[in-house]
Amino acid sequence: MLKNKVAVIYGAGGAIGGAVARAFAREGAKVFLTGRLRAAVEAVAKDVVSTGGSAETAEVDALDEHAVDTHLQSVIDEAGRVDIAFDAVGISNTRIIGVPLVELDIALFSLPITTATSYFLIARLAARRMVANKSGVIMTVTAAHSRIGIPLVGGYGPAQAAKEALTRGLSAELAPHGIRVVGLRPQAMPEAETIKEAYEPRAKVSRMTWEQWQEMLANKTHPRRLMTLAEMANVAVFLASDQASGMTGTTVNLTMGSLDD
Ligand SMILES: NC(=O)c1ccc[n+]([C@@H]2O[C@H](COP(=O)([O-])OP(=O)(O)OC[C@H]3O[C@@H](n4cnc5c(N)ncnc54)[C@H](OP(=O)(O)O)[C@@H]3O)[C@@H](O)[C@H]2O)c1
Repeated sequence: MLKNKVAVIYGAGGAIGGAVARAFAREGAKVFLTGRLRAAVEAVAKDVVSTGGSAETAEVDALDEHAVDTHLQSVIDEAGRVDIAFDAVGISNTRIIGVPLVELDIALFSLPITTATSYFLIARLAARRMVANKSGVIMTVTAAHSRIGIPLVGGYGPAQAAKEALTRGLSAELAPHGIRVVGLRPQAMPEAETIKEAYEPRAKVSRMTWEQWQEMLANKTHPRRLMTLAEMANVAVFLASDQASGMTGTTVNLTMGSLDD
């Protein structure tokens, strides 16, 4: 589905970035994997290459404009273009959750919002290259917190809502130039370490085991189970592909029924 596409993934060493990278490469994309820590990104690249895919790695802080710009130029120099830019950047939940809003200081409130600006930076710099080809797809990941009031998550919800608003705004400006902008809003996927880190302490406080907590979350979905990283990545493949040419300016609800549209 992505044969010969050139995809740049930011935060590629993370759970979602890694799953998307593997799925994009499986479908024929040449993936350029970036992250702050090279070791995590290298591990994903090794997987991709061992299954016959094509992957290159680079150390790029997605909040550093110069680093993102220089890397994108190196991709253009090597591959000739950028077809897909995927923002999978996120910070550890343990750093941002657990403090009531009335006690939260501004720096901690702002942390997830500042992190979300990676999406703006990536989109802006990638779009400048994509405009020349009159095609491209810019993607990000959000969470149900964008739409539901959830206690003790600080600035996380506002950050997710901002990314979804940015998806609409970017699309309104870029779609006339052939660039689609789409987001994914998955339910918590327990395989991701950051989800376990976030929810296990809350489970303990509620005198529940981690397994019982997952079951409680799963019971909010229609199929009574949580999504896997592979399922999320398969949807990402479709959205990134030309098969989804009719989709832009939207965030796909992957909460399996736990959040109504
Ligand atoms: N996992 C889920 O179930 C789930 C569900 C819904 C939404 N989401 C959202 O999806 C995003 C990714 O989640 P995830 O589970 O994949 O998290 P993750 O495993 O923690 O991955 C996030 C990645 O982003 C990297 N990163 C952080 N700051 C960066 C920066 N400035 N430049 C480049 N890379 C940076 C991290 O690397 P470092 O080691 O350098 O920090 C990490 O590799 C988050 O926004 C999360 O809230 C996740």
